Amino acid sequence: MKTEIVSIKTRRENSSYDITIGSGLYRSCGKWAAECGVNKNDRVAIISNRTIISLYVEAVTAGFRAAGFKTSTFLIPDGEKYKNLSTLQKILDFLGKERISRTDVVVALGGGVVGDIAGFAASIHLRGIRFLQMPTTLLSMIDSSVGGKTGVNSVYGKNLIGSFYQPAGVLIDTDSLKTLPKRELAAGFCEAVKQGALSGQKLLDLTAEVLDGSPQMTQFLAAQVAFKAKVVQADERESTGRMDKLSRKILNFGHTFAHALEKATDYKYLKHGEAVGYGILFAAALSKKLELISQNEVDLLDDVVRRAGRLPSLSGIDPARVIDSFKYDKKVVHDSLQWVLLKGIGKPIIVPNNQIPHSEIVKLTKEFTAK
Ligand SMILES: NC(=O)c1ccc[n+]([C@@H]2O[C@H](COP(=O)([O-])OP(=O)(O)OC[C@H]3O[C@@H](n4cnc5c(N)ncnc54)[C@H](O)[C@@H]3O)[C@@H](O)[C@H]2O)c1
Ligand SMILES: [Zn+2]
Repeated sequence: MKTEIVSIKTRRENSSYDITIGSGLYRSCGKWAAECGVNKNDRVAIISNRTIISLYVEAVTAGFRAAGFKTSTFLIPDGEKYKNLSTLQKILDFLGKERISRTDVVVALGGGVVGDIAGFAASIHLRGIRFLQMPTTLLSMIDSSVGGKTGVNSVYGKNLIGSFYQPAGVLIDTDSLKTLPKRELAAGFCEAVKQGALSGQKLLDLTAEVLDGSPQMTQFLAAQVAFKAKVVQADERESTGRMDKLSRKILNFGHTFAHALEKATDYKYLKHGEAVGYGILFAAALSKKLELISQNEVDLLDDVVRRAGRLPSLSGIDPARVIDSFKYDKKVVHDSLQWVLLKGIGKPIIVPNNQIPHSEIVKLTKEFTAK
């Protein structure tokens, strides 16, 4: 089966890297690590969790051993609530105790939680050691492993503590999606629909085809990764002042309503990607209300989001709590919330909240929470 490689260029020297995508790649992960510049004598510290390691320990350790690497593994508890400073401290203790040195490498084997926290640990252990990503969820493959954002949650909110830190390489084995729970897969597909809507008809169509059972998974992942890479390369650090089509902020499409939904339900009811699914529908409906897109485009997005999977019902969620939650959005700039809306498929625009009638947002929120 064909392997695809997407090269990511970053502005800092020596921090460009490849994302390698294909089927059955874990068994040759040692060879891949060597290609990423890791030497035989360098030690490999794998950070993962029990769920993932129990599925992939055999293939991954065989892959590293075959290339002559010595590995040590540290498992963090499974779940978003463990993406915090206390778990980070434990990872740093492990790296210290194992005497992981400046020439050694941290490998994140897991979803976005493992990738974010392991990447952050790698960025501060000895002021930064090499880091490789082996993302195992759809969301982490197309989103969190591309772009160099690492970090943990704080008591004040999600991802508030972290760094920009690029990996030395990313390995995506499409086979790992076969064990992913259905809801996690659907959540990842909602993020894929988001990127399709932002990128244009071609990526949206490819996403819809894969959802319909087309076997082009490697090609689909490569196209998704290439899109995210294009945006983050243009605006590596998400400059607050940028408002153009390639501002990193556009990746927030669907996320304003999603974050408010997640906050209003105490982050317990919806998977993040599921909330993004609703967020896409909300942003599309709002774009239509402002006469930016047609009903046909709203229907098209609605159709692809529905194909991603069944979203949990929002009925019973208090719309007032959702509306109140908008003001806590992390992406608020100078006290003003910024919405990412569409002028068409592939045509995002950033609209400040004060240019949108509040009554429309209230009306739509009520409509959505009545469903
Ligand atoms: N750094 C970024 O740019 C960025 C972007 C988007 C999201 N994120 C972060 O990513 C995190 C969410 O990531 P996620 O959706 O991957 O969730 P996750 O890491 O919690 O993984 C979801 C669940 O799937 C399990 N799992 C993972 N791979 C599996 C596999 N192959 N088979 C079976 N089970 C598997 C995990 O153990 C977990 O229970 C959030 O913390 C979010 O903040 C970061
Ligand atoms: Zn997201």
